[in-house]
Amino acid sequence: MESSAPAKIILFGEHAVVYGEPAIAMAIDLRSTVKIKRSDKFLINGESPDSKFHGYIKKAVELYWNESPLNVVTSSTIPHASGLGSSASITVSTVSSILALQNDWNKEKIAKNSFEVEYSVQGRASPIDTSTVTAGGTVLVSKKDFAGRLWKIEKDNNSWFINNIEICDLSLIIGCSGIRGITHEMVDKVRRYTEKSGFARDVIASIGNITYSSISALKDGDYKTLGSLMKKNQNLLSILGVSHPNIQSMINEVEKYSYGAKITGGGGGGCIIILTDEKDEVLKILRNRGWSSYKVKMDKEGVKNY
Ligand code: MEV
Repeated sequence: MESSAPAKIILFGEHAVVYGEPAIAMAIDLRSTVKIKRSDKFLINGESPDSKFHGYIKKAVELYWNESPLNVVTSSTIPHASGLGSSASITVSTVSSILALQNDWNKEKIAKNSFEVEYSVQGRASPIDTSTVTAGGTVLVSKKDFAGRLWKIEKDNNSWFINNIEICDLSLIIGCSGIRGITHEMVDKVRRYTEKSGFARDVIASIGNITYSSISALKDGDYKTLGSLMKKNQNLLSILGVSHPNIQSMINEVEKYSYGAKITGGGGGGCIIILTDEKDEVLKILRNRGWSSYKVKMDKEGVKNY
């Protein structure tokens, strides 16, 4: 069995979504592939599974496969520890291949099982990454049920509605700082801050308001409003302590040529998304400074099994 799943970017609302605020993410055209076949020994890319390197695949197999051992082979075009959902993508591809082998392939089950895997590897998490790369397109995760409801995910005392939303064609560039951003460390940092500070909890709520305000601008293609909301969202993420000096330098460098730019995903390094009409200029600046960059489009399909 072979499955593949896209990467994702978070347009608005990362971190706040862990606390029940809304967030919007989009699947993008970078992909991971996972092939599995029955074997006499459990192997991942020819090696014995090691939790340090293969934590998500190992957990998916442990939770959802109890037959003969599997030989798992992966490949990916998604940079690791970059906020682009490489772990979610590999998890979803693995769960998809397992469900296909069990003749039980459906997107809702893939999203739910993949969230369970991510949750048990990372500790605290929301289902935004795993649901977005499963569904494809643009996804709004919220406490409220919207018209484009795909599924609902519940865990402990939390529940999230996963909704598909139609948005305009976004002209985005991704710039990567080269600094590894470890999502669960950043999620933990925000948890510690929100536990002791009412101000941090207000910041989380303000991020939620920004996300709600972005919905109509995303539908209408109002780049000016979107850019200004991205800047506000980025400032609030910096206050939460998940930005990085290199991220701020990248944002400063491209400011003149963009409507707005912000971290995408967990932060602490990783990548930014840049909304711009001047893609070539922005790419040139990033390349000249040695930052890797991607021109990305929305992936509409989500997870696929071949
Ligand atoms: C990571 O892509 C998004 C976070 O909000 C974590 C999560 O929602 O699980 C930082």
